[in-house]
Formats: sequence, structure tokens, C-alpha cells
Amino acid sequence: MKVLLVGSGGREHALAWAIAASPLVERLWCAPGNPGIAGIATCVEIAATDIPALVAFARQNAVDLVVVGPEAPLVAGIADACAAAGIPCFGPSAAAARLEGSKAFMKEVCAAALVPTAPSATFSDAAAAKAHVREAGAPIVVKADGLAAGKGVVVAATVAEAEAAIDAFMAARIHGEAGATVVIEACLVGEEVSFFALCDGAHAVPFGAAQDHKRVGEGDTGPNTGGMGAYAPPPAFTPELEREVMATVVRPTLAEMARRGAPFRGVLFCGLMLTQAGPRLLEFNVRFGDPECQVLMLRLMSDLVPALQASCDGVLDRFAVRFLPDAAIAVVMAARGYPGTPEAGSEIRGLERASAVPNVQVFHAGTRAENGRIVAAGGRVLTVCAAGRTLAAARDAAYAAVDAIDWPEGFCRRDIGHRALGG
Ligand code: AMP
Ligand code: GLY
Repeated sequence: MKVLLVGSGGREHALAWAIAASPLVERLWCAPGNPGIAGIATCVEIAATDIPALVAFARQNAVDLVVVGPEAPLVAGIADACAAAGIPCFGPSAAAARLEGSKAFMKEVCAAALVPTAPSATFSDAAAAKAHVREAGAPIVVKADGLAAGKGVVVAATVAEAEAAIDAFMAARIHGEAGATVVIEACLVGEEVSFFALCDGAHAVPFGAAQDHKRVGEGDTGPNTGGMGAYAPPPAFTPELEREVMATVVRPTLAEMARRGAPFRGVLFCGLMLTQAGPRLLEFNVRFGDPECQVLMLRLMSDLVPALQASCDGVLDRFAVRFLPDAAIAVVMAARGYPGTPEAGSEIRGLERASAVPNVQVFHAGTRAENGRIVAAGGRVLTVCAAGRTLAAARDAAYAAVDAIDWPEGFCRRDIGHRALGG
């Protein structure tokens, strides 16, 4: 089989690693990829959002399966363009990707499908949004409707903070048109879990859960990021909760999307809050999480490729995905300045020494090759991952690998996994 993977982050390096391990795969390309991915796949210089060029490449090279990592090309219709060209694509159509692309749409689907989620209201008028906030009181959550690179949510502790967020989104348009509409919702309290289900439009199978660490600082302090680390499995997400979420969130959503003529295929990422009253859906994403994907791939026992194909083929009802009982952990190493303006260009040494630590995989995210050296070229630069019989063993291996990396301009959180490990 020939596979084209789209994307360039740590998530895509982990996907490339799992796809390349499949005995079914004879050729793997990645567009645009990164220097880590270049070690296991052929990188092609096409941007992840250049849909016509990606489809043309897939056609010219008789690609059997396109696998899409990030949300932007999905929301822009890469799966539709592949379908029109007769190329199987793992990922939802643009119409189904609206579950991530529009929070107002996601809320509308949840309401129709009776999915448990925070009570909310949608506004395209700032004065009405502010009046609602004043009436509801704080804490309250303000969300830009559209894609905002993970920065479109403000959990406001006061009414003034919520009003400021409404102004920033709707008047100043800090996220452009994504903020033309806002969703205002009740603030939920509990532990957050990322749960993944593979979907084929009609059927869904659980694909594991992980817990992300969104804040930049240790002890969950400081500004939000795309994710500073993850571990799996999260003990708070019991098999009973997984069954409940499949029954109350995933299956009703699939049925509602099919009813609307936009069946959901691909991976449905359910961002959940485990509240005292039960699991509540915070958001849908229509792709794997980053860095959650990295820990899922480390625990995956089954061949990934047939699972992705079964999603495209609509035969997931005949499919089961198996995971190792082991724990896995991912520690993100970021460039100084992240999540603000990261410093670029510093050299990273010791990667081979880090990769030689038993049970460790070092996935590249924001790196660039320059005269035979690897340099930082992004905010989140590396994901240092490890598997272990226990989470503590996985953590120790991952941090041993982190310590083998010589990169003074980088930093990481030292407490990944703390909710499960204690202390
Ligand atoms: P989202 O992009 O919707 O996942 O939101 C980003 C983060 O904001 C989530 O991971 C939560 O930590 C937080 N968040 C979103 N919605 C709520 C809510 N209703 N209550 C409390 N926190 C929330
Ligand atoms: N780590 C969260 C995300 O990928 O959205």
C-alpha cells in the first residue's frame, strides 16, 4: 500500500511511526513532514493546507490512503477533494468537520442529539452577549465560534473578564472571523480527559483516552498551550465511563450527523470534563490530539493502517482495536518563549542518546534540519515519549531521555502525569 500522511507535528511523527510499522505499507510519504519524519518516510514539500497539490500528488503516485493529521485541511475540505478524486481519505468531510470548525454548530448538534454538555447560548451581537454574561454571572466561559489555534476559549473568573473576552473576539477580532460569533457557556468543574473514537459514519469503536496538560507551567499554572504533555491510560476514565461516553456522546452524535447528511468518518476526539454529575462534553475535535496521539500510538498493539481503512470503508462494526496494558507518557519540549513568541534557530544535540534510552521514542514537532544539525523551528519542538509497565516507569524513562537532550534554549514541564502519580 502507498500512504500519504498530511501534517508536520509531533502527532504526525507518531502517526508516521505507527503507519511505517505496518507490514501492509510499502511506501509512505508525508507532506510536509519534519526532520524526524524524514527518517521513516519520504517528505514532500507541499503545505498541509494546499489541497489541490496534495490531491494531485496522491493521484500521480497512486496513493491508496490519505491520512490527515491537523484540522485545518479537514475543515477546508481535503476529504471531499479526495473523495472526488476517488482516493480513500481518513478524516471527515468539511460538513462533518464543522463539529470542530464551529462551536455553535457543535452545540446545536449536541442539543439535537441530547449529548450531555455545558448549557450555552450563541451570540453574533456583542451587546447581547454581554447582557447574557451579566445576567448569568461568573465564572463563565467565552468561546470564539471558529478555529483559533486553541486560543479561542476564555474561562472568565469575573464578569469583567468575560466582557473583555467578548470585546477581544467580537470587536477587536483578535482571531479574525472566528470571533464573529461567540458561544457562552457555563463553567464546569472536574478532571479533563481526552477520549478518542474511530468512526466510519455509522459505527464507532473506542480508541483510548489520554490526559493532556494544557498549562505551560508546573502544577497547571500559567497560560494555556496546545498541550505540554500527556499520559495514558488516565485512571479516572474507567471502562464504565468509556461505555457511558460511547452511549451518550459518540453514538448519538454519529446518528445526528448521519441524519443531517454529514456522516462523520475519522477520529472523533471528545474533550470531556468528568464532573460530579457525570462526564460532560467540552468540545469535539475531528482529529487526533497532539500530544495525546503520541501516547495512543505507543500503547497501540493493533496495526493502525487496517483500522484507518476500516473507517474509510464503513466496516468498523467488524473491527476491534487492541492496546497494550502498559502506560505511556509524552513530555513536550518547547522553545523558550512558548506559548508567546518562541525563540527559533537554537541547536538541539543529544537526540540519538535520548532515543537510545530503553522504551523511548522521540518525536519531532517543530524542528528544522540545517547543515546536518537539528534546530528549533516552532513552539512545541519535540515530544519525548516512553512506555512502561507502570506510569512511574514510563515517566522515569521519558525524563531520562529529556535529560540526555542537550538544548539549553528549550524547556519542559517536570510534572507530566502528576494527577495519576500524585505528589
Ligand atoms: P476547548 O478548546 O473548547 O477545549 O477549551 C479549551 C479549554 O478550556 C478546555 O480544555 C478546558 O480546560 C476549558 N474549558 C472549555 N470549556 C469549558 C467549560 N465549559 N468549563 C470549564 N472549562 C472549560
Ligand atoms: N492536545 C489538545 C489538542 O490537540 O487539541
